Amino acid sequence: MPEKKTDKIVKKAQRLLTPALVFHSEITVKRASGLYVTGTDGRRYMDFSSGLATANIGHCPAPVIKAAKRQMDSLIHSGCIFYYESEVELAERLARITPDNIEMFFFSNSGAEAVEGAIKLARHTTGRQGIISFTGAFHGRTLGAVSLTSSKSWYRRRYHPLLPSVYHSPYPYCFRCPMGKQRDMCGMDCFDYLKSILRHQIAPDEVACVIIEPILGEGGYVVPPKEFLSSLSKLCSDEGILLIADEVQTGFGRTGEWFASNHFGLKPDIMVMAKGIASGFPLSALGASRSLMSKWSPGAHGTTFGGNPVSCAAAIATIDTIEKGRVLENARAMGAYAMKRLKAMQKDTPSIGDARGLGMMIGIEFVKKDGSPDKKTLDKIMASCLSKGLIIVECGIDKNVARFMPPLTTTPAQMKKALDIFEEALFE
Ligand SMILES: Cc1ncc(COP(=O)(O)O)c(C=O)c1O
Repeated sequence: MPEKKTDKIVKKAQRLLTPALVFHSEITVKRASGLYVTGTDGRRYMDFSSGLATANIGHCPAPVIKAAKRQMDSLIHSGCIFYYESEVELAERLARITPDNIEMFFFSNSGAEAVEGAIKLARHTTGRQGIISFTGAFHGRTLGAVSLTSSKSWYRRRYHPLLPSVYHSPYPYCFRCPMGKQRDMCGMDCFDYLKSILRHQIAPDEVACVIIEPILGEGGYVVPPKEFLSSLSKLCSDEGILLIADEVQTGFGRTGEWFASNHFGLKPDIMVMAKGIASGFPLSALGASRSLMSKWSPGAHGTTFGGNPVSCAAAIATIDTIEKGRVLENARAMGAYAMKRLKAMQKDTPSIGDARGLGMMIGIEFVKKDGSPDKKTLDKIMASCLSKGLIIVECGIDKNVARFMPPLTTTPAQMKKALDIFEEALFE
């Protein structure tokens, strides 16, 4: 039998790319457009992963390609040797769409790199060392960022000692309360735990920052109670601790607002952005107020590739497309439709323990009869969906939460088709 081309690429990858890098599927893609990716074998798939919550306006969006090509004809690199228009134009756009206290920016290439910059900014400007993060959080893979990450101990294994003076407090994961409470008995014990860290382990005046995902991503697509975030915000401002919102996964319309912080009225001191910012061109950013940024001394941080002119042009076009195309409205409407159908499915099967999320950031948690995590059932459903042409990826420490993160531009017909496939896989 002739060898398939797809197998050749996968085989080459297995020979040449480090095994540390794990791919979610064995699909080899030739072309991608909008919601769809086409394999080298000619099969077409609906990509409900959006290339890990990044192709927020679909794969290869025409206005972004056009803007990037135009930029490539004039300048593709600066290395901080000279100024250029696309970077400052992008900063102007970001200042407009982020909370109003976020006014100045530092651009880098990946989410982890922006997280590194944020904690450096916090330490440098406060003169404090301590960092508080949350159990279940994912902030990236570089040594500093992985020190804040605890979605899985696997990511930290064999890398110790990590960054010192990092403390982890339980994330308000109400479906599986880390404090063992039922929802109606909630006294926000997880918030008390955070306060106890400040009483027992590190004094508040030694804590530079608290970093939080306004909706937990890799850790299980968990929406926290609003009062948790408002209490956290108050505690930080009372103690002079900088609050960092990691909006890497939740940003650029993913939740139906520009940023998840908007849903909660959260005004972080520092905001970290990446993924959807430039439709897949490598770019990340951290933003803060002018007064905070003015304390970051010249040369205290820097980059060669950060704020690449082509990536910045792509980001401007991405933001403009989201604005002009009423994309946030679509994300809210399609998210609400999906949630309604998923809640109806939940009524018909005990396998779905919880369906939660905001906008197009939806998690479906699979459970066994006794409520414990059920990875096996989800694995079967994901395999069945894939065979029917729908790509879905999972999250959560037990890999039992399906994440729906399609492009925000997904149409009603596409959303219906994807949900039909999911439902069929669920009940077969
Ligand atoms: C919330 C969050 N922060 C940071 C990161 C790290 O981003 P990157 O993989 O671009 O370094 C991710 C990646 O998934 C993320 O979801």
